[in-house]
Amino acid sequence: MARYKIAWLPGDGVGVDVLEAAEIVLDRLALDAEFIHGDIGWEFWCKEGDALPQRTLELLGAVDAALFGAITSKPAKAAEAELAPEFRGTGLVYRSPIVRMRQLFDLYVCLRPCKAYPGNSLNLREGIDLVVFRENTEDLYSGVEFAPVPEELAALLGRLSKPFGAFQGLPGNRYAISCKINTQKGCERIVRKAFEFARANRRRKVTIVHKANVVRATDGLFLEAAKAVAREYLDIPMDDANIDAMTMWLLKNPFNYDVLVAPNLYGDIISDLCAQMVGGLGFGCSGNIGDNLAVFEPSHGSAPKYAGQYKVNPIATILAVKMMLDWLGEAEKGARLEGAVAGVIQEGKTKTYDMGGGNSTLEMARAVADRLR
Ligand code: IPM
Ligand code: MN
Repeated sequence: MARYKIAWLPGDGVGVDVLEAAEIVLDRLALDAEFIHGDIGWEFWCKEGDALPQRTLELLGAVDAALFGAITSKPAKAAEAELAPEFRGTGLVYRSPIVRMRQLFDLYVCLRPCKAYPGNSLNLREGIDLVVFRENTEDLYSGVEFAPVPEELAALLGRLSKPFGAFQGLPGNRYAISCKINTQKGCERIVRKAFEFARANRRRKVTIVHKANVVRATDGLFLEAAKAVAREYLDIPMDDANIDAMTMWLLKNPFNYDVLVAPNLYGDIISDLCAQMVGGLGFGCSGNIGDNLAVFEPSHGSAPKYAGQYKVNPIATILAVKMMLDWLGEAEKGARLEGAVAGVIQEGKTKTYDMGGGNSTLEMARAVADRLR
């Protein structure tokens, strides 16, 4: 029996291209693993009314980790229109499968390292090395949303909330409510992970990202929980910043920051910013990590217009493989893989289109694999 069981989830769009690239480097590393294909993606929404079918959930329940490519998402009306006729009008609602996976399996850490590999001409500056810890299951992603707003809810809010008065009396179909829900447990555990990481990796500082001056209830909770956790890690400096100011300061003084920790949506935003500072989405990798399962993916989406063209940069996915190796306890293989990626970038001979080159997805993967000999 193989040492690890890994779910292999290409999804759709360029997800298929980049997982083929991942296979090339994993073959070369000879990881002792069984890779099991899982159905996930837009075609399963169209054919079965579910982009993340039950059988795939069962697979995820039985593996050590998963590698995920990408999935196309479309707005509600477009999604409904592409459903097989028998599912139309049945009330099925499309929800992002990656968000569902994060919630169903309590993958509460979204870990997004953003490192400028030396010699990458896309680096904003050489030497940037940021790590984002994004809370991954709650906040504005909780899925508790109302459009139209039921009268019952409006009546209750009218009784309980003074500021809601500004909206009361609006017809329910003329406004919408998305709930930002954050729990004490959710805030504490993500911040704790950030501090644990900082300590284990001798990082300089942890910065709490929030908007507690305006979003008092939820971000106030996040900030207070973070400060309480920080008192358990007095060896690690901590500061905090509002999300808006954070985006400016990060661009201006990237070297003032190190580990960042944020609620879900701010973490989503800030991790794209950090990825762009080290080469863009072709370099952004991501781990969705829980206590029992972790799903690794490139942060970029499915880019349907490039699907099957083997054009996109697989480095994000290859770095996600590196994260998966580390998480499985295969740090030696992870370090070798990262070294190979860094070597290819430094050498500058193999470049995908985003890097100003003409090499394909698979050529890039082979260049990395060749350095693993
Ligand atoms: C990400 C993506 C997802 C998110 C989308 C595809 C639902 O942007 O992983 O950052 O918003 O979390
Ligand atoms: Mn995102």
